[in-house]
Amino acid sequence: MMDILLSVNRDSHPISVDTRETLLDTLRERLDLTGAKKGCDHGQCGACTVLVDGRRMKSCLALTVSLDDCEITTVEGLATGDTPHPLQAAFIDNDAFQCGYCTPGQLCSAVGMLAEASAGWPSAVTPDVVAEPRLDDEEIRERMSGNLCRCGAYVNIVAAIGQVAR
Ligand code: FES
Ligand code: FES
Repeated sequence: MMDILLSVNRDSHPISVDTRETLLDTLRERLDLTGAKKGCDHGQCGACTVLVDGRRMKSCLALTVSLDDCEITTVEGLATGDTPHPLQAAFIDNDAFQCGYCTPGQLCSAVGMLAEASAGWPSAVTPDVVAEPRLDDEEIRERMSGNLCRCGAYVNIVAAIGQVAR
């Protein structure tokens, strides 16, 4: 066990963790933050995606002990008080979910993806890697390809992200 300070959604949690414990299990089982979902538990579905220091990370693949002093944001931390994050509002506007199981991961991934694009990071489909990326549907699909949706709500998810991106 190791003692660390875990910062989640702007709250500090002094916590003693097993060095083999994943961030996903810490969030869900120890901190009662059940927004991040356990889909595959193998890094393949994206349902567990959270932000670590603003960058998206699959929390089932991250060891909590390695995140001492990092700022973690889960879907529970995206809204400001009662005001939803613009992406949350856009998902509602565009009917971008069905069962909603993948939605917390989709939202966190979309927040991270928009930040990556605005920092000028190209993706595998960016035609000009020097110019600022233009977030058309192809770019959004490629950048969100690590997040699966079993309900197939992709068309509306892309529309929701596009509404915020443009
Ligand atoms: S639960 Fe982490 S990627 Fe599927
Ligand atoms: S809305 Fe059901 S898995 Fe995506």
